Amino acid sequence: MIPLSVPNLKGNEKKYLKECIDTEFVSSVGKFVNLFEKKISRYTNSKYAVACTSGTAALHLSLRIIGVKSQDEVIVPTMTFIATANAIKYLNASPIFMDCDEYYNIDVKKLLNFLKFNTFFKNGHTYNKKTKKIIKAIIPVHVSGNAVNLKPILNICKKKNILIIEDAAEALGTFYIDNKKKGKHAGTIGDIGCLSFNGNKIITSGGGGMIITNNKELAKKARYLSTQATNDSINYIHNEIGYNYRLTNIQAAVGLAQLEKINLFIKKKKYIYNFYKKHFKNTKDFALAKRPNYANNNGWMVSLVLKKINNIKKNSTIKKLLNKKIQTRSMWLPVHMQKQFKGYQKYKIDKANKLFYSSINIPCSTNITNGELTKVVKVLKNF
Ligand SMILES: Cc1ncc(COP(=O)(O)O)c(C=O)c1O
Repeated sequence: MIPLSVPNLKGNEKKYLKECIDTEFVSSVGKFVNLFEKKISRYTNSKYAVACTSGTAALHLSLRIIGVKSQDEVIVPTMTFIATANAIKYLNASPIFMDCDEYYNIDVKKLLNFLKFNTFFKNGHTYNKKTKKIIKAIIPVHVSGNAVNLKPILNICKKKNILIIEDAAEALGTFYIDNKKKGKHAGTIGDIGCLSFNGNKIITSGGGGMIITNNKELAKKARYLSTQATNDSINYIHNEIGYNYRLTNIQAAVGLAQLEKINLFIKKKKYIYNFYKKHFKNTKDFALAKRPNYANNNGWMVSLVLKKINNIKKNSTIKKLLNKKIQTRSMWLPVHMQKQFKGYQKYKIDKANKLFYSSINIPCSTNITNGELTKVVKVLKNF
């Protein structure tokens, strides 16, 4: 089987794991957790990093620390993994779904139109004209490592008092280009960024996530709530409802070893993308999904648009490829179509549906061989 995207664990993972076991620091206290936070904070150039058990936990905590409550609304792209929207529901708040652009990212133009024509500002808050509820935040998602162009919304969000929580789960290693130079890291433009280290991501800690922010108070609150909101650890006094969301030392040990290899991983991902680009050029049936040129994207996932296809054909293509021992994946069913999210507001969604019906993600593990890449291209072209 040629897998879609599997971890590459050939660095210091075993050595660091052995140290955890030898020292008996296996749970959420230990040198690797602190070190992993420090290294992520340095790599992303964000002042604070708070390690969490998952990207989902990071999203949940982020919304909680900015004060999202049950009567609030949060704008979210419909083209995202379900976890982004679930985090909103964990706080009983409501999502407003937005369309995506050609990079599978939130459609910033439509978002701006929505803010302009469908909201009003009163007493320091932005209200949704339709529901009269406060819109507290926006969660742009850097899909497949493609940076969202946040520039056009930054000032507007500030003026409208809408916080930006970036879902950068798939975007560790994605940097904007600023005057032809390396600019900010994805997830560090808004108020908070959330990373994931799930097994399929550019680096993994087995499972895990991280909150990155330059806001000291938010970081402090996240750390406090992630460790059961402990006010006094001697007498077990907890003044708020907290969570057991801190990453373990074992997970951080793996994450740290992986982070040491991130440049190599990104280099290989770029090689894979260019290989496919060369071979799918000038084909009638396929188009490699575009990547925005205002950023150096980490290239985590490679998406292919099947030009002459509908959803039934897409599913049978995935099955046929599996029979040929090639694992591919559909893009996510847009969240506004998921059963539990059907009743929520959606705004002019069109492209997300089309891309869902026509896109598949193709094998791009960092340890894929040239022979395997050639096989994927050959089999696809034969369809
Ligand atoms: C866009 C996006 N958001 C959130 C998550 C959730 O991260 P985790 O699986 O670490 O909870 C993922 C990945 O799994 C993701 O791809």
